[in-house]
Amino acid sequence: MLSKNIVWHEHHVSSQERAAMKEQIPCVLWFTGLSGSGKSTVANAVESKLLELKKHTYLLDGDNVRTGLNKGLTFSDEDRVENIRRIGEVSKLFVDSGLIVLTAFISPFQEDRDTVRKLLADGKFIEIFVDTPLEICEKRDPKGLYKKARNGEIPNFTGITSSYEAPLSPEIHIFNNDKSVEEAAEEVVNHLKNKGYLHA
Ligand code: ADX
Repeated sequence: MLSKNIVWHEHHVSSQERAAMKEQIPCVLWFTGLSGSGKSTVANAVESKLLELKKHTYLLDGDNVRTGLNKGLTFSDEDRVENIRRIGEVSKLFVDSGLIVLTAFISPFQEDRDTVRKLLADGKFIEIFVDTPLEICEKRDPKGLYKKARNGEIPNFTGITSSYEAPLSPEIHIFNNDKSVEEAAEEVVNHLKNKGYLHA
């Protein structure tokens, strides 16, 4: 077996040194919620605010990652698990590089989100539930996908023919139906400030 002959190589430059240089505590801001709930929009707004604060970030977004790294994965339960597993591993590497990582994936299953949490050190995984009721997501339907799903044109559509498990105890719970993007983003940045992530 190949894996027996793989030996972990210690890096000369440590994760702590990279983070200290960036004057921040690296972590993952894991946005989860239905399609059309506002995950990407809020994550983008948070990233802009962090840039203003001179913080070093990277945003991984469902639709974009599925055109590259995860090209070829479908929306079957099995492929969604693999989608999230890969994102978890990539996030872990980016955290090690010193970045504040933002991820915007439906990530419908609690078990998969918990697996990513366990992959990271304590306090490095911040689960953010962008809680927008299905009726509102469906009304917004920014990409016209709910309409197609209702017409039977998209199989396994989250919220319609595939399940979404709401987070049990997210670090941040954004009730996004009566909130501006600005307010939602501010809530996330305040959490980071209050918990000391924005200083080395
Ligand atoms: S996840 O469930 O595997 O985490 P991911 O966040 O990567 O999903 O991709 C979701 C995006 O893919 C949606 O925002 C939507 O634009 C698109 N999409 C296409 N087909 C589906 C589907 N069957 N269910 C949900 N989203 C879909």
